[in-house]
Amino acid sequence: MCGIVGYIGKKNCLPILIKGLKKLEYRGYDSAGIAYIKNNKIKVTKTTGRIINLENKIIKTDQSTIGIGHTRWATHGEVNTKNSHPHQVGNITIVHNGILENYQELKNILIKKGYKFKSETDTEVLCAYIDYEYQKSDSKDMLIILNDCMKIFKGSYAVAIIVNNIKDKLFVIKKDSPLIIGIGDKENYIASDIGAYGNTVLGYIPLNNMEIGIISENNISIYKGGIKQAYEIKHTDYDFNESDKEEYDHYMLKEIHEQSSIIKKLNKKYLNNLKQIPDISKYKKIHIIGCGTAYNAGHIGKHIIEEYNNIEIQNYIASEYRYQKNFIDKNTLVIAISQSGETADTLACINKAKKEGCHTLSIVNVKDSSIARATDEVIYTEAGQEIAVASTKAYTTQVYILSLLALKIAIKNNSINIEKTIKEYNKLPKLINKIMNKEYEKIADNLYQENNIFYLGRNIDHTSVEEGSLKLKEISYIHSEAYQAGELKHGTISLIEKNTKVISLITKKEIADKTISNIKEVKARGAHVILLIKEKTLKNIDKSCYDEIIEIPNTITLLQPILNVIPLQLIAYYTAKKKGCDIDKPRNLAKSVTVE
Ligand code: M6R
Repeated sequence: MCGIVGYIGKKNCLPILIKGLKKLEYRGYDSAGIAYIKNNKIKVTKTTGRIINLENKIIKTDQSTIGIGHTRWATHGEVNTKNSHPHQVGNITIVHNGILENYQELKNILIKKGYKFKSETDTEVLCAYIDYEYQKSDSKDMLIILNDCMKIFKGSYAVAIIVNNIKDKLFVIKKDSPLIIGIGDKENYIASDIGAYGNTVLGYIPLNNMEIGIISENNISIYKGGIKQAYEIKHTDYDFNESDKEEYDHYMLKEIHEQSSIIKKLNKKYLNNLKQIPDISKYKKIHIIGCGTAYNAGHIGKHIIEEYNNIEIQNYIASEYRYQKNFIDKNTLVIAISQSGETADTLACINKAKKEGCHTLSIVNVKDSSIARATDEVIYTEAGQEIAVASTKAYTTQVYILSLLALKIAIKNNSINIEKTIKEYNKLPKLINKIMNKEYEKIADNLYQENNIFYLGRNIDHTSVEEGSLKLKEISYIHSEAYQAGELKHGTISLIEKNTKVISLITKKEIADKTISNIKEVKARGAHVILLIKEKTLKNIDKSCYDEIIEIPNTITLLQPILNVIPLQLIAYYTAKKKGCDIDKPRNLAKSVTVE
């Protein structure tokens, strides 16, 4: 979602802002803009579409040492130049990420005071309100002005501000939307995430809620409620230069291929030192929450941990969990799963759980992200930067960490053969590579022109195909649903007709026959069945059950879901590719969903 950048120092900020915005492109956006001070005047350039359009619009000879920039993902008002950021009202120019919830009420007040609005955005109202407070103020002290504004603003916001007549300071305010200050040598940066300036900065400070930052070339001061705050400078070991597609056509394919080496790395880190993994068997209740792919990973976690734990685990969609009765207390463990660590709904659930006294654990990819910082304990998935909007390596590493939580309990309960299990973990990277070599393009040839595709599975296989279906629809724009195989006869089978494409996954021997019967039912109605089946699940599988078949290597229950999802990722990828879709940046989607 929206990305914010900013710079103050000695260099020309224009190329720096553009570079930062390019690095934030992966978050998803539909327009972009920058503002900078030139000859004591604030200049704004903005446009719709890709950053390249903005670059083409900027006057090449312009130079400035202070500026802010933005990529917008539309929430209030359609995608057009007027609605894109920066917004400028009176003496104030801002870029904003988040949603000002009381914007209509404030807009009405401001209209009565004589303010006129050019856009349909909540951001222009936020900007006008800061200007209103600025005009009223005798001292023109921005700390007091911003502090007063924050008492009025409702909702979520990360805002970067430049002010007419203040050439040597950038201002930032933050509530429930991520913002960091990057520290340079006699220069400072602002960004929505560290990826914008990763290897350029010497360290960074993640702002906390309700903080105000006043940033000059040589100084950073942070305040909360008017009081100066101490801050800790963080460092990152991410290699931000690694974000290059290399020989792959898309980041998504590159990230699918990285899964094997990442698992190898995780094996090295964890298998000899399971002390790093907490024992979660002591809790009376465990809730796992997340959104989208992270929710799907949590659902797999429920299945595999329940195999070894004696209590039922519930998993929830974060945007629902935060508004429902949760029946949680100090004996509850709430596990939040998130790639970005910034998903607004997931973060809100963690805050809610903490208020109820629960213990909180996060499984997060991005270091020091808001969710990582908000939880009592964090396990990083160490997947490296995931650029493609569609999550692939983030999902498999989330499932991997969940498998370790299960393994830890299984070892404690003496209910697993440790030696055999560790062997299987070590074999996993090779098995992943083995799956990678199958022919998914041929399967995609039969899928890319479809309007609807069905996925079928039972039990944990249904949970895996949920993820396959999400992957397909988000990048290929083909409608698809994942059904529990046994549910077909209760309504959905009416949709099956000649040549309907059905992708079915079977990896549990005990219930394989049941799913096969369901597949026969759709075959009898003319469906074209693509069967993904674990090797040796069924002896002599009847060829009349399927039209195409992919065999998935066999591993232990804890790890099987990691192997199962890879063919599903590749089928989605090649189908979208065949259709000519913008795979890494699918329409309407954002990588980091920082508004609810
Ligand atoms: O950053 P998070 O893992 O919290 O994001 C959650 C979802 O928005 C994300 O998994 C989304 O569903 C993916 N784009 C799916 O591929």
